[in-house]
Amino acid sequence: MNLVLGGSGLVGSMLVHVHLNHGLPCLYPSSKELNLLNYTNVLEYFLRMKPRRVFLSAAKVGGIMANSQYPVPFIEDNLRIQLNVIRTCYEAKVDKLMFLGSSCIYPRMCDQPMREEYFLTGTLEPTNEYYAIAKIAGIKMCQAYNKEYGTSYISVIPPNVYGPRDHFGDVNSHVIPALIDKIHKAKANNDAFIVMWGTGKACREFIYSEDLAEILLKVMDLYNSSEILNTGTGYDISVFDLVHLIARIIGYKGELRWDSTKPDGMPRKLVDSSRMHAIGIKATVSLEDGLQKTYAWYLENYAKMTTGEVK
Ligand SMILES: NC(=O)c1ccc[n+]([C@@H]2O[C@H](COP(=O)([O-])OP(=O)(O)OC[C@H]3O[C@@H](n4cnc5c(N)ncnc54)[C@H](OP(=O)(O)O)[C@@H]3O)[C@@H](O)[C@H]2O)c1
Repeated sequence: MNLVLGGSGLVGSMLVHVHLNHGLPCLYPSSKELNLLNYTNVLEYFLRMKPRRVFLSAAKVGGIMANSQYPVPFIEDNLRIQLNVIRTCYEAKVDKLMFLGSSCIYPRMCDQPMREEYFLTGTLEPTNEYYAIAKIAGIKMCQAYNKEYGTSYISVIPPNVYGPRDHFGDVNSHVIPALIDKIHKAKANNDAFIVMWGTGKACREFIYSEDLAEILLKVMDLYNSSEILNTGTGYDISVFDLVHLIARIIGYKGELRWDSTKPDGMPRKLVDSSRMHAIGIKATVSLEDGLQKTYAWYLENYAKMTTGEVK
C-alpha cells in the first residue's frame, strides 16, 4: 500500500486524489492522527500499517514573508520531519520513498534553465535559505541511505505549485494564490486600480498541483536514481503576463499598476525538465486551464468561507 504524508496539503491532497482516480488505494493520515515531529509515533504507525511506498509531501512550507519572519520552523520542523520519516522508512523496510524537494535548493545565481547537475554549485537565495538547507539535507539523507544501505529513496524538484487548497490571503501565500486573492478582492470592491510589486519582468515557472501529482505517481514507478529529478512544465511566464492572465480569468477590468521601486527578485527561475522528459513523463495541464480550475475552487471554497460571498 502507498502512503501519502501531507495528504491535506496542496500537493499531498492531489496525490491522494490521483491515487483514488487510478483505483490505487493509499493511506493518508492527517497530522492529528500522525504527528511527524514525533519519532515514536512515526515508527509505531509504519510498523502497524506496513506501507510499501511512501510520498513525503509533508513539510513546513511558505512564501517569502513567512520564511523571513519565522525561519526556525522552516529549518527545524522540516529537518525533524525528514529525520523521523527517512529513518523510519529504513527501520520499517519500505520498498521506496519519494522525498519532495524544491527549486530553492539551486544556487541564487544559477544558470537558467536549472539543470540537476547545478545542485550545490553556489550560494543560496537568502530569503529562503533555512528552508532550502533543510531540503538539501533531506536530499543528502536519501542519497546517504541509498549509498550505505542500498535503499531506493528518490528526490524530486518541482517548481512553484498552485491549485486547490493553496494558502490564499495569509502569510504563507505564494505568488499565484496571493494574486488571485488580491485581484478577486479588488474586483469585489470595484477598485479602480491595483498596484503590483516590481516591474513584472521577472519570469517564473508554475505547475498545477494535479498535473504534478500525476507526474509524481509515474516517477515513483519509473525513476530509480539517487540523483535529483526536476519535475517541471518546461516553460515559464513573466509576472506581467501572469497578472494580466489572472485578471482576465477573474474578470477584473481596473488598471494594473506596477511599483518599480519594489524588487523583482531573480530575473528567471525555470527548472530544466529534460531528464524527466527523457523517461517519457511530461506535464500536460496549461497554465490557463490550471488557473481556471484554481479560481473555481477559490470561489467555491475560500471566498465563500471567508467573506460569505457567493459566485
Ligand atoms: N507549494 C509549492 O509551491 C511547492 C513547490 C516545490 C516543492 N514543494 C514541496 O512539496 C511538498 C508539499 O508542499 P505543499 O505546498 O503541499 O504544502 P502544504 O500545502 O503547506 O501542506 C503541507 C502538509 O504537511 C503536513 N504537515 C506539516 N507538518 C506536519 C507534521 N508535523 N506532521 C504531519 N503532517 C504535517 C500538513 O498537515 P496539516 O495541514 O494538518 O498541518 C500538510 O498536509 C513540500 O515538501 C514542499 O516543500 C512545494
